[in-house]
Amino acid sequence: MPTALVTGANRGIGLAVARDLARDHLVILAVRDPAKAPKIADARVEKLDVSVPESIAAFAARLKGPLDVLVNNAGVYTGSPRDIWAVNVRGPLLLTRALAGKLAKGARVVMVTSGLGALSRQPESLVRKLQNPDLTFDDILALCEDPPGGYGPSKAALNALTRLFARELPQARVNAVDPGWVRTEMGGPGAPRSVEQGAASVLWGCRLPPDGPTGGVFRDGTATPG
Ligand SMILES: NC(=O)c1ccc[n+]([C@@H]2O[C@H](COP(=O)([O-])OP(=O)(O)OC[C@H]3O[C@@H](n4cnc5c(N)ncnc54)[C@H](OP(=O)(O)O)[C@@H]3O)[C@@H](O)[C@H]2O)c1
Repeated sequence: MPTALVTGANRGIGLAVARDLARDHLVILAVRDPAKAPKIADARVEKLDVSVPESIAAFAARLKGPLDVLVNNAGVYTGSPRDIWAVNVRGPLLLTRALAGKLAKGARVVMVTSGLGALSRQPESLVRKLQNPDLTFDDILALCEDPPGGYGPSKAALNALTRLFARELPQARVNAVDPGWVRTEMGGPGAPRSVEQGAASVLWGCRLPPDGPTGGVFRDGTATPG
């Protein structure tokens, strides 16, 4: 059975994605607090705080490959810009890099992004940096140290990171997927989409055919400008 890893899998969109993937994958629920992890039959629970580089390194050392699906779902909306970027950008960067050698051929890597990360919503100076064709992982790590804004800019950087990983990992399908505005703790009760609707958008990226797109930003299976 293929293996799938979902970060931030103890509630919200991550939990719904993990539940669906568990139908035909061995799922690893990567959560900050294993004691609070939900029960999913046959799923494995692993401790992982994506904001802590040492936690990522220890987790990656424990994990045996190959990994068929990696969902970088853990995210935060509030907090200081540095704290937001540590979870939303540095976490996916370090985790994907640490697991790159354990990805199966044709693995799907999904970065859970947001429409608030669209370049059209970002300050001109950030757009210039993220669109620079010579942008590197180190440039993105430098932005994490001195972030040019909070949640929206962090997701814009995540979209740029997606393009870098798509180039770096040509055998994998690496895409950023926007779940839309969803009724979770983050989205609040007034959001128009159910958790299942948001999760479906993410699951599209997890279940792409081997010749599917890579390096794009999608919502409900449709490319968006990102
Ligand atoms: N809801 C929306 O409207 C919406 C819209 C666009 C994009 N998104 C994106 O969708 C993803 C999931 O959001 P959600 O709505 O499901 O949010 P949520 O209900 O607030 O859940 C967030 C999840 O991320 C985990 N998390 C936070 N910081 C973490 C860390 N340092 N290490 C590991 N896990 C961590 C949380 O774990 P704990 O329980 O331990 O805190 C929780 O499981 C996020 O990337 C978010 O930006 C959401």
